[in-house]
Amino acid sequence: MQKARFITFEGGEGAGKSTQIALLADYLQKNGIDVVCTREPGGSAGAEEIRNLLVRGGNARWDRLTELLLFSAARRDHLVKTILPALNAGKTVLSDRFNDSTVAYQCFGYGFDETIYQQVNHLYRLIAGDFVPDLTFILDIDPLIGLKRSMKRQGNDEQRFENMDLSFHKNLRDGFLKLASENPQRYAVINADQETEKIHQDIVTTLRERLK
Ligand SMILES: Nc1ncnc2c1ncn2[C@@H]1O[C@H](COP(=O)(O)OP(=O)(O)OP(=O)(O)O)[C@@H](O)[C@H]1O
Ligand SMILES: [Mg+2]
Repeated sequence: MQKARFITFEGGEGAGKSTQIALLADYLQKNGIDVVCTREPGGSAGAEEIRNLLVRGGNARWDRLTELLLFSAARRDHLVKTILPALNAGKTVLSDRFNDSTVAYQCFGYGFDETIYQQVNHLYRLIAGDFVPDLTFILDIDPLIGLKRSMKRQGNDEQRFENMDLSFHKNLRDGFLKLASENPQRYAVINADQETEKIHQDIVTTLRERLK
């Protein structure tokens, strides 16, 4: 893997995205690759401020379109201030969530909505043009197991999405899998219900195969 790549990690709560990003960053750095780890919503000073508006408060704090606009504004700032400068400097960027989370949460989570889906795609093109990740890992897990894992974490006050009902999380999982099945070149579905080290190995193997 020579050239700078943009790699995103997607999946439900507690799937292991943060854990696997840390392991992959370590692996890549040991192999002489410069890595920047980032996350959404957030990943730049302005986007982190918007994150606070999104992840705190009640489930009904924002209506759908307002929420989508906040995510899009945060993503634009993240892209311009963090992701593109890092890629231009030759660094590989690992992002904990990106636009596919917006598609899954906003278009599939509450029940598929064609209008929102069109708006999400339109807004993404507006903020990012034809820029897309080189590779997206979907960490796939039964939401009950993922939610149990994330409940175990201490001091987490960002519970707004975790608090939504189970059908929402099942819809999310189905949404991610649908995206992956429609574009298998860009996505890799990883079984996240395994030992941490085995998941890491699956990710490294896939990365080597996909981004030769
Ligand atoms: N393979 C695994 N098996 C068991 N527990 C795991 C595994 N991977 C991660 N965990 C634990 O599950 C919890 C959630 O993991 P992690 O924070 O990496 O998930 P995440 O996908 O980033 O979650 P979130 O979407 O809530 O940020 C952590 O306490 C972590 O230590
Ligand atoms: Mg995380």
